Amino acid sequence: MPASSSHYRPTIAGLPVTELAHSFGTPLYVYSPETIERRLAELKAFDTIRYAQKANSNGVLLTWLRDRGVLVDAVSEGELLHALAVGFSARGTPPPVVFTADLFEHRALARVVESGVHVNCGSADMIEQLGAFRSQGEITLRINPGFGHGHSRKTNTGGEWSKHGIWHEEAPACVRRARAVGLEVTGLHLHIGSGTDLAQLGRVGDALERIGRSIDAPLRTISVGGGLPVALFPEDDELDVAAYAEHCLAARDRLAQALGSPLHLEVEPGRRLVAESGTLITEIRAIKRTGRQLFYLVDAGFHTLMRPAMYGARHPVRLGARETEPSRTVEPVVIAGPLCESGDVFTQDAQGVVEPISLPEACVGELLVLEGVGAYGFSMSSNYNSHPRPAEVWIEDGRARCIRRRQGLGEVLADEGTPLIDRRADAG
Ligand code: LLP
Repeated sequence: MPASSSHYRPTIAGLPVTELAHSFGTPLYVYSPETIERRLAELKAFDTIRYAQKANSNGVLLTWLRDRGVLVDAVSEGELLHALAVGFSARGTPPPVVFTADLFEHRALARVVESGVHVNCGSADMIEQLGAFRSQGEITLRINPGFGHGHSRKTNTGGEWSKHGIWHEEAPACVRRARAVGLEVTGLHLHIGSGTDLAQLGRVGDALERIGRSIDAPLRTISVGGGLPVALFPEDDELDVAAYAEHCLAARDRLAQALGSPLHLEVEPGRRLVAESGTLITEIRAIKRTGRQLFYLVDAGFHTLMRPAMYGARHPVRLGARETEPSRTVEPVVIAGPLCESGDVFTQDAQGVVEPISLPEACVGELLVLEGVGAYGFSMSSNYNSHPRPAEVWIEDGRARCIRRRQGLGEVLADEGTPLIDRRADAG
């Protein structure tokens, strides 16, 4: 049916939202790599783009990025094995996979040692524990520069109240400690927080330069971490990536000059690469008024998309069909999910105060789409209230394919050994 103002059909990468929901069910994460392509292009001034897979570690996405020369960061045994499973090599120059953490869980340490991947240490204990197994080799240090900034207090990873990184004043001692166990510090890494801004990001290069000059180490790499924001709403500031890259390159060159040897510059984005590539489709299952307030209750909740409940993060919401139908009136609505918890609301501020948004009038059974959910969407989903995790779909060249089947209820119960009494509930 041709699109017209009265039969407008919203699409994702050219495919109608209604058809995607019909074919794959809801709630549903849908990704399209077009925006990722553009985001990669704007970062090409960096020597290495290392994807922070915690943002979204679906194997199809990891493979897509690997095929385009992107390297990867891993923060757990699971992320490490996932990267190796999709074909990243354990060793290489620059290291295809870097393991970054503030502590080693036992199994992660064993896996790191066995695979030989490069380690970015965020604590002196990590250096000692790695040194007990590896008596030679290179490491990088993740440094807390004494400042940090993020879109939320919970995503600020610098300063005295942050658990992340080696305190900047401890860096020279850590270089000596590493050498004492046979490890050479050849890189410095800084990640000040997630969803920060140009003013704060601009301080990272300068801090790396200052710390690089303060230590006696044969540095070959500096990483400015991730944290690059994404503008999802017209009023959001758009990051001047060219200015950011220029700042980082200038800091790299100054430090290289001071050290008398070339330096490799890495950037480690998660959100910036993949946030815009993802959309969540959900169905309105109930509509109610509570006094003056109108609620659309949908089949996705904070077990599907945690960010609004966790940080007060805002995502653009659209109707999944007939949005421009002229007869519809626009009303302030609260979008909430199925969980037995008052905080299960997609439209709230960072303090948990409910904030209605304007949406055209809708009916039960209609679809809503939440945009900008490609980063920290599925990866932070859970089985809260015994809900299975949603399916994921990838659209490329006009074709949609399922890249993660909907979790079955049997899988949710399997770990405790409880069999499902009705196998039909297991259908993913
Ligand atoms: N590098 C390191 C060491 C990190 O810890 C992180 C994010 C990144 C890179 C990537 O940061 P990005 O470019 O995505 O901002 N769940 C939160 C974000 C937590 C980020 C944790 N670390 C959210 O949904 O906003």
